[in-house]
Amino acid sequence: MTIQSLTAQMTLEEKAALCTGASAWTTTPIERLGVPEMLVSDGPHGVRRQPDVHEMGAESLPATCFPTASALAATWDEVLIGEMGAALAEECIAQDVDVVLGPGANMKRSPLNGRNFEYFSEDPYLAGELAAAYINGVQSQGVGTSLKHFAANNQEFQRFTISAEIDERTLREIYLPAFEKAVKEAQPWTVMCAYNKVNGTFASEHDYLLNRILKEEWGFEGLVVSDWGAVRDRVAALKGGLDWEMPGPQARRVQEVVDAVNAGELDEAVLDESVQRILGIVAKAQQTPKGGTFDAVAHHDLARRVAADGMVLLKNDGILPLNGQQTIAVIGRSARHPHFQGGGSSHINPTQVTVPFEALQAYASDAVLAYAEGYPTDNSFRQDLINEAVAAAQSAEVALLYIALPTFKESEGYDRTDLDLTDQQIALIQAVAAVQPQTVVVLNNGAPVVMGDWIDDVAAVLEAYMMGQAGGGAIADILFGAVNPSGKLAETFPLQLEDTPAFLNWPGEAGKVRYGEGLYIGYRYYDARNVPVQFPFGHGLSYTTFAYSNARVSAETFADSDGVTVYVDVTNTGSVAGKEIVQLYVRDLEAGLVRPDKELKGFAKVSLEPGETKTVEMTLDFRAFAFYHPDYAAWITEDGNFELLIGASSADIRQTLTVTLRSTLELPCLLDEESTIREWLDDPRGKVLAEPILDQIRANVAAMFAGIMAGDSGAAENVDMDLMMGFSDMPLVSVMLWQADSFDKHPEDLVDDLLKQVYQAAQPVR
Ligand code: BGC
Repeated sequence: MTIQSLTAQMTLEEKAALCTGASAWTTTPIERLGVPEMLVSDGPHGVRRQPDVHEMGAESLPATCFPTASALAATWDEVLIGEMGAALAEECIAQDVDVVLGPGANMKRSPLNGRNFEYFSEDPYLAGELAAAYINGVQSQGVGTSLKHFAANNQEFQRFTISAEIDERTLREIYLPAFEKAVKEAQPWTVMCAYNKVNGTFASEHDYLLNRILKEEWGFEGLVVSDWGAVRDRVAALKGGLDWEMPGPQARRVQEVVDAVNAGELDEAVLDESVQRILGIVAKAQQTPKGGTFDAVAHHDLARRVAADGMVLLKNDGILPLNGQQTIAVIGRSARHPHFQGGGSSHINPTQVTVPFEALQAYASDAVLAYAEGYPTDNSFRQDLINEAVAAAQSAEVALLYIALPTFKESEGYDRTDLDLTDQQIALIQAVAAVQPQTVVVLNNGAPVVMGDWIDDVAAVLEAYMMGQAGGGAIADILFGAVNPSGKLAETFPLQLEDTPAFLNWPGEAGKVRYGEGLYIGYRYYDARNVPVQFPFGHGLSYTTFAYSNARVSAETFADSDGVTVYVDVTNTGSVAGKEIVQLYVRDLEAGLVRPDKELKGFAKVSLEPGETKTVEMTLDFRAFAFYHPDYAAWITEDGNFELLIGASSADIRQTLTVTLRSTLELPCLLDEESTIREWLDDPRGKVLAEPILDQIRANVAAMFAGIMAGDSGAAENVDMDLMMGFSDMPLVSVMLWQADSFDKHPEDLVDDLLKQVYQAAQPVR
């Protein structure tokens, strides 16, 4: 039976019921018509399948806990993330789950967001590529995903009600592109709307976001599901494009929909559209037979590989990799009690957990390793634990300090109030580093912490993020050099909270949070203001070194529609094999609107043996050069020169090329009665028509100057310059009005005539 004929056979009550869940995790089945229930589960970095699929809150079935999105992003590895996605799908299949609720593709606007550990990056291009890789990986196995939280879910403070106040260009260039890329390149089965409002309208009722942009502009084919409890007005939400409300059951909401249709307030065609989207996904889910088992051991090994690739060696004075030390002090609770995931809806019940200390034992004998707890579980200050740690560090050749940011400082549900470790942890690092210069700090956290109080005193820092259940092994692999670290930061680590882009507009008040920094989040902000940072976006060290050479392009001049391919040779110049993440940033040298200094538009990860060279290839398309112009309501390009910056991080550019872009766009004319002289001159059609009037204005001004400055021969020559500087940003009509007598028609009528001629000649936009 087709979806259409199925819909035609459904009663109004059945349709309304289908658009709200039957339980915490299932769609409403329609047994009479053979429509089964569909089961969804969190997500994103593991499967959180509840034992009773209709309930919430119980401990979920064991599943592999992979590293969270911060760590995944630091791999910059679409293939690996795809592999992880496929493994997640296998676990879904084994547990009868049709759709996993992830990935999250929101931007890291501020490092204070309590949920940043679930999000990829501060950069929309990187987040979009990785979200698409995740979705393609999961969906390649016939299991669905839920791209979330659409849109502008960038904080936990008042997350159910706050209105994110964002200008159109910022929305389009920063907060939407990761979703756009993921939808266009991977077609997630479902998209989950955010709790918050965007510019005053709940994301669950947002016609512009859900209907116009997501469904019409981007061609999203799946269903839109609410975040759990995000719907306030069910009928408004249906009209706004929200297909499926969760969780259920919600008898009252269902009745509201029935009543609204009966009262003529809701067009049944709107309901039918949502019904068909839901039926389409339910049918898709049926095509993948469920049941069986998954290989928990193989997935644990995969989780270890992902974790190792997502760890970022931030600093290394040469102490790492460890090399035959006879005494190692292992300090810090998280060495014994690993902190490997975040709190909240993404919490996974792991199949097994590698204890970091035990993983070290695989590399070093018990005689070599000593342990001290260092800090307690709670926020109390325990000098005795510090003293014990100092004693252990003093009598060892090296100290490994395992520091985990506790859940009371970082979790879903609340934002962080600072970027600091606990007072005890800071004091511990300082005390240990004071007696042991060979101190290595291993961090477990979901988002940046500040390090100014101690970083100069320690020999190495490894950012291990929320590393998943196998992360303890991955840390050991890196510390002992079995794995050469290759992760790079997908977010900037600032020197202090006050330096961060959203600092003055966080977390909002009176129900609104103003995105006053606009386009300038992450490195875009630090670049623009020249603010020094602790570690820049894209930074990460290796045990080897890489040289970049011979950067070149497929064409130095090219059309935006053709794009361009960039090549660079990368050589492993050290003595161990390693992987390098090559980054490509684009800088617009001259633009009609202000643009960030540079923006990431390509990257590649390459694996190299010592001495080996490979050519890395990255392609740039129309969007790599375009910006969103709110007046045209479109992504546009302009003719001109661009720099292509190829680097090892956003602050370590190794090769620069200059290329010339030819725009193929025929932009519509924007001239109107208020247009300035500059705008008339900038418009090719307007320029031709306005020139005679501008000549007249010049002559008038020259005559005026000549009168005033009689005897000063330089005055008349200065007229052009004065015109440019003084008048060019004034409306043409206003300048003409001052000199109305010199025109044979009233200036307003003259400008109207000009506009008529311009619009007759104007071409429609492509
Ligand atoms: C979270 C979602 C999650 C859902 C179901 C919500 O509170 O925001 O990310 O998927 O709960 O657990």
